[in-house]
Amino acid sequence: MTASLEQLRRCHFAVDLGAARTRVYVKGAGLVVDQPSVAAVNTRTGALIAVGEFAEKMTGRTPAYIRVVRPVNGGTVVDIEMAQRMLRQLIGDRTRRSLRRRPRLRAAACTPHDADPLAQRAAIETLVGLGARRVELVDTLIAAAVGCGLPVERPEATMIMVCGAAATQVAVLSLGAIVQAQRIPVGGEAVDNAIVQHLRHQHELMLPSQSVRPLQLALSGNGLTPEGPESTEIHGRDVATGLARSVKVDTAAVRRAIQTPLTAVLDGIGKVLRECPPDLVADLADRGIMMVGGSALLPGFDQMLRQATGMPVHIAERPELCAVEGLGAMLEGRIAPMVLDPLGA
Ligand SMILES: Nc1ncnc2c1ncn2[C@@H]1O[C@H](COP(=O)(O)OP(=O)(O)OP(=O)(O)O)[C@@H](O)[C@H]1O
Ligand SMILES: [Mg+2]
Repeated sequence: MTASLEQLRRCHFAVDLGAARTRVYVKGAGLVVDQPSVAAVNTRTGALIAVGEFAEKMTGRTPAYIRVVRPVNGGTVVDIEMAQRMLRQLIGDRTRRSLRRRPRLRAAACTPHDADPLAQRAAIETLVGLGARRVELVDTLIAAAVGCGLPVERPEATMIMVCGAAATQVAVLSLGAIVQAQRIPVGGEAVDNAIVQHLRHQHELMLPSQSVRPLQLALSGNGLTPEGPESTEIHGRDVATGLARSVKVDTAAVRRAIQTPLTAVLDGIGKVLRECPPDLVADLADRGIMMVGGSALLPGFDQMLRQATGMPVHIAERPELCAVEGLGAMLEGRIAPMVLDPLGA
């Protein structure tokens, strides 16, 4: 699916439409958008009220006539029209006008590994609606590997793990191509949900939709590791009475609750390693796993992987930006053509 570098170099802008965040890179200008993939709509008039950070803040706080929507779900654009409107707003008039001036506007987008034709079509349609005459698709795994500076073009194996909001993708790359890969439909959202469910069942407490991250932060520093405070105080609403209440939560129990989704991720890694040719596995034992994507920042996640696999684990610098920065590097031609396209095919 991944487009050739030559084609990518001709693109004017690149988009990473994630389940959690939307990022846009404009050639020559760099990263111009990094905002939540959220839009708030007036249901009476159909007008867009807000997008990005501001729309996300409205979640759970809107009167009946305002609806907060997420046009990207599970890594796929599910509402093409809304995604286009959201992107137009996020990109802004000035940048859009300057893009429009290009005679044949070309765009690039990264799509999840194994995205089906329908999902690919939805990504293309979204960008065509923004004026692109041609859209090149790049596998997120390749974009992220380029973005975090992995030597993907060499004949040695590297392992990358893209920890997104909706999914975790793991791959072994060699010679610029994917040797083995898995997409596990478990990501940051599943971890947040596990915490919400735990508090509901064990403490009969409902969390306001935006306070899961603060809970992770309360656990943080030590996150998934057993050091650190034994309990933490959480404010929420009683499930039965609906009144505000705060409880002391046992951090070890929260860590156990998060363990379930993370086990699925470990299974996926194991599967990739088992199916990988032995020569490459030997390389991996030295080089280890590179973690990218926002959920790579989940405190203690890297340590857990280290324990489970016995391999070195690294977190990329600014892990959440790797995919879009990789697309940017390809647009700007910072990657030599032979790198991803050795035969010039
Ligand atoms: N500091 C942090 N600690 C824990 N989790 C974090 C942190 N920062 C971001 N996340 C999580 O990372 C996820 C967002 O990551 P990212 O921006 O890579 O997702 P995305 O690209 O929109 O999703 P996808 O690639 O699955 O479509 C969210 O689920 C968020 O909860
Ligand atoms: Mg992503």
